[in-house]
Amino acid sequence: MNSYQGKTYHVVTYGCQMNVHESEKIRGVLSRLGMNEIDDIESADVVVFNTCCIREGAEDRAYNNVMALRPIKEKNPEKIIILCGCMPQQKEGKYKLKERLPFVDIIIGTHNVNQLDQYLLKYAINRERIYDIIEKPIGSLDNNNCIRDDKLNAYVNIIYGCNKFCTYCIVPYVRGREKSRTAQDIYNEVKDLVQNQGYKYITLLGQNVNSYGKDLKDKMSFSELLTYLCTIEGDFKIKFMTSHPMDLGDDLIKVMKKEDKVAKALHLPVQSGSSRILAKMNRHYDIKHYMSIIKKLKHAIPNIALSTDIIVGFPGETEKDFNQTLKLLKKVKYDQVFAFMYSKRTGTPAATFEGQIDDKEKNIRLNKLLRLQKLIQKDQIKKYFNKTYDCLIRHINGVAVGITDGGKEVYIPNYKYVNQNYFAKVKIENIRNHKLSGVIK
Ligand code: SAH
Ligand code: SF4
Ligand code: F3S
Repeated sequence: MNSYQGKTYHVVTYGCQMNVHESEKIRGVLSRLGMNEIDDIESADVVVFNTCCIREGAEDRAYNNVMALRPIKEKNPEKIIILCGCMPQQKEGKYKLKERLPFVDIIIGTHNVNQLDQYLLKYAINRERIYDIIEKPIGSLDNNNCIRDDKLNAYVNIIYGCNKFCTYCIVPYVRGREKSRTAQDIYNEVKDLVQNQGYKYITLLGQNVNSYGKDLKDKMSFSELLTYLCTIEGDFKIKFMTSHPMDLGDDLIKVMKKEDKVAKALHLPVQSGSSRILAKMNRHYDIKHYMSIIKKLKHAIPNIALSTDIIVGFPGETEKDFNQTLKLLKKVKYDQVFAFMYSKRTGTPAATFEGQIDDKEKNIRLNKLLRLQKLIQKDQIKKYFNKTYDCLIRHINGVAVGITDGGKEVYIPNYKYVNQNYFAKVKIENIRNHKLSGVIK
């Protein structure tokens, strides 16, 4: 019995899939203290903000939402507010959180969020504000008792941290160096998710999954890990993110092609279409190399769904560089593009580069790029005609729908849906109003 038994909590999450999964672990920890999750942030006894600092906008959003709780905390001093994640882990963040958020009771970073229950128990005893940011992880960041958001797709960490140091990026500073989980741990977790909990998709997580295993005593490559996980029996698919183009070798393409359980979808961030800018970003590849990977992928897996991340307005990006990015989009024809305006991150090399571009220009470039991508995606729908895709068959609003590995929905009219969620091949026979329909093969 502890003083949190029967209390309520609410978790607010910002940032990437890794943070979403971190919050699932946090929910597991709070539930094991005997607390119950509720939707209402205002009445929850404990509120956790699991934050992100990848761009200024993410920080502003989190900061403003924490500030909005101030009057509620003043009225109810018993309410406990916790801030954790990447934002407080920064050395020189935009906001001086310790001073500017005096009403926040517990502030911890990414390396000690796994000790949240200990901090809470300590807080319950002496009610003293806790501010503890440490430089290296203590103990394992794994936690198999998480409460997952989604019932179909489960996130599974395979590697923490990042060693890449792209010049614009804060992640290596706030998440530390690469640390792989053992293949056996990952295998056991995936097996349990698939065979005991009915998950249909497993998404393996890492800032750079292709670096997997290099730091392990029993070295194992990412493609070997995938092959190993595919030996788990069951009707499921494996997705993964994120892949760095520099480390993506032919072995991975081979495994993606060969293994039915590996989803035919790949997120391969390019960041820019200009090799000159890529060098300044410290990405370790040029466009020629990137395009050679894309070519090999499309050749080996014709149905592959490709997505990418782009940064517009990196310091020194000229009109010519930007046009090369547009050209790249036309060439690759991604199924999805996540584009961002470059955001200066204090402490990263690019923050002090010459040629910073003003927000207005960045905005113009972003909108131009998004408009182009919208047209490309509209046109892309044609490629589905008469092709057969491996789909997850689901029942949505009374109709059977197949979901491709890339997330496209295919309606299957007149199909008597029998079982719950299973994989089957669907041939697309019709495209009307940008909607696909087909039959199960
Ligand atoms: N590890 C992944 C991505 C992590 S961050 C990778 O290497 O691709 C997700 C995306 O945020 C990045 O791909 C990049 O496009 C974007 N990003 C990172 N830092 C940024 C910054 N300072 N400004 C704007 N976008 C940024
Ligand atoms: Fe950031 Fe680059 Fe690491 Fe991705 S690979 S997390 S963009 S430093
Ligand atoms: Fe953000 Fe941290 Fe992820 S900065 S993008 S939550 S690793």
